[in-house]
Amino acid sequence: MSTAPGTALDDPDWWRHAVVYQIYPRSFRDADGDGNGDIRGMRNGLGHLARLGVDAVWVSPWYTSPMIDGGYDVADYCDIDPIFGSLDDATVFLDEAHRLGLRVLVDLVPNHCSNRHPLFQRALAAAPGSPERDLFVFRDGRGVDGGQPPTNWGSLFGGSMWQQVTESDGRPGQWYCHMFAPEQPDWNWDNPQVVAFFDQVLRFWFDRGVDGFRIDVADSMALDQTLPDTKPDPATGFGSWHKDVGAPFWDQPGVETIHRRWRQIADSYADTALGARVFVSEAHLDPIERQASYVAAGRLHTTFNFDHLWCEWTAASQRHMITRTLAAHDAVGAPATWVIGNHDVPRPVTRYGKPETGWPFDADGRVGQPRFAEDHRQFPTDVDLGRRRARAAALLMFALPGVAYLYQGEELGLPEVEDLPAEVLQDPIWDRSGHTEKGRDGCRVPLPWSGTKPPYGFGPGPGEPWLPQPAGWAGLSVAAQTGVTGSHLELYRAALAIRHANPALRDERLAWDEASEQLLSFCRGDRFRCLVNFGPGPAPLPAGTVLLASGDVSDTIPGDTAVWLAT
Ligand code: BGC
Repeated sequence: MSTAPGTALDDPDWWRHAVVYQIYPRSFRDADGDGNGDIRGMRNGLGHLARLGVDAVWVSPWYTSPMIDGGYDVADYCDIDPIFGSLDDATVFLDEAHRLGLRVLVDLVPNHCSNRHPLFQRALAAAPGSPERDLFVFRDGRGVDGGQPPTNWGSLFGGSMWQQVTESDGRPGQWYCHMFAPEQPDWNWDNPQVVAFFDQVLRFWFDRGVDGFRIDVADSMALDQTLPDTKPDPATGFGSWHKDVGAPFWDQPGVETIHRRWRQIADSYADTALGARVFVSEAHLDPIERQASYVAAGRLHTTFNFDHLWCEWTAASQRHMITRTLAAHDAVGAPATWVIGNHDVPRPVTRYGKPETGWPFDADGRVGQPRFAEDHRQFPTDVDLGRRRARAAALLMFALPGVAYLYQGEELGLPEVEDLPAEVLQDPIWDRSGHTEKGRDGCRVPLPWSGTKPPYGFGPGPGEPWLPQPAGWAGLSVAAQTGVTGSHLELYRAALAIRHANPALRDERLAWDEASEQLLSFCRGDRFRCLVNFGPGPAPLPAGTVLLASGDVSDTIPGDTAVWLAT
């Protein structure tokens, strides 16, 4: 049933069971010393990734961008931002990654571009009702003088979802829709030119050798053109942007048509050296079956599992979430994905060290309102507890069937930097929330590679990284953890080596064992068992040979500890 493990490059089904490492280019590694990570730095860091044992890399946007939203505001989809390098650098990076056996996904941002994109600049200069404006979502305002936004919709980053423009005669004019920041105008996907534009973007990067795309907000492109108001959100005073079924800007029927078209383009590469290309969808839809419909036959390949990302750290919630995820994906014949961190959420070491660790789940899905506060900085963190749990969560994740995503720095056990000073914050959420939400910069602090003080080998010289690193990160660097038995990094390396060498962890289904209220236990095939004790008390260690443990095990498994057993 199983074949000898090779690299992801030899395996057309790599996307069904890969471990994918997310690179956030600005914070991964800086080769030119300007304080910003870059593509040459990424290339220098590929050895670390190969040694870590991942199969693929997902690169967050590296395109030309004013970086209002960390590159998710794209001004040229077919070029590289100068702070990251050049198209040639990208080609060299792709070749080098492939030489090491790593597949490479890049980000596609189809909902919006940057307000500096030439097509949006042209739309601004053109008249209301012109073909140029029709590439975006321009509307007249409400009220006698059109001075009110066309709908009550609130933006995900705070404030209205509409921005009024000044027309060429100097008068206040139409409004354009921006689901995120005003600097990120939404494309009008009802216009065939937008559809054709993105076909060409896909082909541009497929032709340059990318193995696939992560699709940013993959559920948002189509719009209910009747523009109905949404239910007012008492917290903001604007219409809710939440993803209720029927919301006018989420999960509209047109989204499926777009996905199916892209799938055909990706499949048309089947006869090339890299084979058919793949997609991972970023679409947090509830319940998980709704999300799994995005990976039904002929649509996208995989979709991020946000239920896993936000699931609280209890045996019962984790078991319900895993069972339901697997059932939802089995029903459509797609692999599940697992993810505990990305560039948008507080890092797991910190999240799992809070009094509330996430959302509760029961057999029917997410239970009621999450007890987890959105801005959880207000709660104290027990970092030691969080670190123990994050280690256990990693072993749990890597033992599950499907694809695992890990976000750069997770393998080092980096905590969230919660105390970044206000003057360095760059996330647009900080300004748009009227300085009430600090936003996502705390998980984007540049990685420590070596050395005893900032920039910890992130860049070649003493240059200041774009976000300051904490004073206490020397012990967390790649160099400091390498070869240290039991370090976070060595735990990840060992886990990925075992996962890679053990075909059961790729091919076999998950079978739950009977377990107690605090313990999860499951097998993959006849010879591999994973146990996670959610604690707080110890649990008996069953018979078998310990392959790997996230903490010290004897004849018992301590609380917040995971063990892999050969049985
Ligand atoms: C990305 C965010 C980004 C947003 C708008 C998201 O889902 O992950 O980082 O701010 O899309 O592009």
